Amino acid sequence: MKKITKAIIPAAGLGTRFLPVTKSLPKEMLPIIDTPNIYYIIKEAVLAGITDFLIIVSRNKTAIEDFFDINYELEMRLKNSGKEKELEMIHEVANIANIQYVHQKEPAGLGDAILYGESFIGDDDAFAVLLGDDLISYEEKSAIGELIDAYNKTQGTILGCKEVPLEMTKKYGIVTPKDDPSKEIFEIKDMVEKPKENPPSNIAVLGRYILPNEIFKILKETKIGVGGELQLTDAIKNSLNNRSCYACKFTGERYDIGDKFGYIKATIDYALKRDDLKNKVLEYLQQLLK
Ligand code: G1P
Repeated sequence: MKKITKAIIPAAGLGTRFLPVTKSLPKEMLPIIDTPNIYYIIKEAVLAGITDFLIIVSRNKTAIEDFFDINYELEMRLKNSGKEKELEMIHEVANIANIQYVHQKEPAGLGDAILYGESFIGDDDAFAVLLGDDLISYEEKSAIGELIDAYNKTQGTILGCKEVPLEMTKKYGIVTPKDDPSKEIFEIKDMVEKPKENPPSNIAVLGRYILPNEIFKILKETKIGVGGELQLTDAIKNSLNNRSCYACKFTGERYDIGDKFGYIKATIDYALKRDDLKNKVLEYLQQLLK
């Protein structure tokens, strides 16, 4: 079995929840302090052994490509002014992985975006998908690393999941457990995209997947779903007869940074993890509470 080394990152959304800034800046480039969120997501995957990325972009998304590109002028200026630390930092960004880009012609859904990755994945048995809205913190093992371990054990489709409040289930893909959902990894028997009512559980799929290669064929046969879009959830559901699918409850904290409050929470929590900011931010928060 070949190791999982490729990942697809869909980043072609309109970012309507974050207008007006997303009028000109892709939401994947919104910074958590000084680092665009897509960089955290790529780092999470690199830590898990991913070496090759395909980012699905839409028009006006050159900011992502520019960020990962080499910037000679900036390098020269940093070099000439002796800013070694900053120079090292931008080298690290430009050399983090092999990154390719493809344009999704229209916002036709997550399933449609994934389909653009077919030739990039080639004949690999399976690949990772990471969604930019879901920022997941980690210590030693990243969320996608936990999913890769689950794939290596089961050879099934793996969904990165967590419990969400019942009233939030209508925002997510929700799974129906087949075995004990209190286990870290449990098999599922069904799933539904954004159930308006009667969710089958409160366990949501949150932006991380390991998908088997055959998903491309299944996506092409899947009917248009919720919101008039080709849904990845529907294709996974259609694959359940041929391949087992497991929910893997990742351990990290997950932030919905496509949501304004989620974004603020992530910013505060990430600031509190940093030696250069922790004390100042804590002091300020305590002052506010007085
Ligand atoms: C997508 C998926 C959904 C998943 C969610 C959060 O929805 O379709 O199943 O639960 O991401 O990761 P979106 O938020 O892009 O509408």
